[in-house]
Amino acid sequence: MRTTNKVKEAQRVMTICNACRYCEGHCAVFQAMELRLEFNADNLDYLANLCHNCGSCYHNCQYTAPHEFDLNVPAAMAELRQENYGVYAWPGFMGKLFANNGLWMSLLSIIVITSFFIITKILTGDGFWDVQEQAFYGVISHNTMAFIFSTVSAFVAIAMLASVIKFWKTMCLPSPFSLNWKQVRQGVKDALTLKYLDGGNDQGCSHETEQPSMARRWYHQMTFWGFMLCFAATSTATVMHYGFNLPAPYHYISLPKLFGILGGIGLIVGPIGLLSIKYRAPNEVKGKTNKGMDVIFLVLLLLTSISGLLLMLLRDTQWVGLVLSLHLGIVMTFFLSMPYGKFIHGFYRLIALVVFAIEKDKHQAIAGVETINVVNIDTASVKAQKATAAMQKPN
Ligand code: HEM
Ligand code: SF4
Ligand code: SF4
Repeated sequence: MRTTNKVKEAQRVMTICNACRYCEGHCAVFQAMELRLEFNADNLDYLANLCHNCGSCYHNCQYTAPHEFDLNVPAAMAELRQENYGVYAWPGFMGKLFANNGLWMSLLSIIVITSFFIITKILTGDGFWDVQEQAFYGVISHNTMAFIFSTVSAFVAIAMLASVIKFWKTMCLPSPFSLNWKQVRQGVKDALTLKYLDGGNDQGCSHETEQPSMARRWYHQMTFWGFMLCFAATSTATVMHYGFNLPAPYHYISLPKLFGILGGIGLIVGPIGLLSIKYRAPNEVKGKTNKGMDVIFLVLLLLTSISGLLLMLLRDTQWVGLVLSLHLGIVMTFFLSMPYGKFIHGFYRLIALVVFAIEKDKHQAIAGVETINVVNIDTASVKAQKATAAMQKPN
């Protein structure tokens, strides 16, 4: 079991909060905390992924600096998240990429984008600046593109699956087939609605200022659904290509184009909004070490959508070679960064929210139960009733 400084700090913070419990109405973290007497790396990883970094508890806490406790729940959780993303990475040594993630991913993008320029230049020779009859397939053939991306996707899918299985096991979840679907639905709903970015009172997130706002929730929704629509665009294009022998480029009124345009707009507005909130937010609630990871992820999402929309507009001009190299390089960097960057948060957060839905329903802790003492609320309340009865004078 890990006993790093980040684990120790989260342990200290949760032990104080568990005695105070002033913030129990704010979010799932405090309700899950109250089901436990002790905190270790496993259940703290769970609590860290439940924390939405909304800042509410920081602004409401009477023990923040200059108090000697110097308590900062959002920062302790953000720091621990950055550490545990690395712990669950597969293969294990790649977990090191989560430290200085911004730097690693920037270097990767330079290497990958340059490689795509070199590849397209070699493939097109003197025709790099020509208008291509088959648009982008005139620069790189469909089969070459499909081969490169499907090989990388297979590795990325295996790496992410292995990380998710590792996290799933640490959360002490049973096989997916023996889960209660009502509880799973609740967890998925909490994830999709970003319930815990509402500050616990439907007023919103206090990440940026003490004044709650829904802006972060809406910008995240645009980013999330923008990404899903772009994914839908690629999937429908693949089905049309292989299933119906309808190769790209597609007309503006076609499913891949409509999904792609809408998704692309979401993936421009959402990340710009999130970046501007991040820029203005005070350092206290963000945590120190994960800023680069968040920023490079947002920048990659933004560049993917901008270069994708540019490619759509310039595909029949002499710029197609340049813009295609740029777009493919950015998309490939994004793909490669998926298991080793911020993208992985979606899976861990979803699992943590499902665990919380189960715990809430059963009034019982499950994550980390194999290693620590847990409080079963039912048992605790029976004990409390007996104690109260014992203290009462007989009539
Ligand atoms: C189950 C799905 C997801 C959940 C529950 C979720 C939840 C969250 C939460 C709570 C945050 C703020 C705390 C933090 O920085 O970690 C966040 C950040 C972020 N998420 Fe998600 N997310 C999900 C999936 C996605 C997906 C699929 C994308 C886009 C590909 C995405 C994009 C982002 C971005 C760009 C940030 C950084 C925002 C910032 O730095 O302020 N998320 N997510
Ligand atoms: S964050 Fe502060 S006020 Fe809230 S429960 Fe913890 S110690 Fe109490
Ligand atoms: S920052 Fe928000 S989500 Fe995180 S523990 Fe505090 S209140 Fe909960």
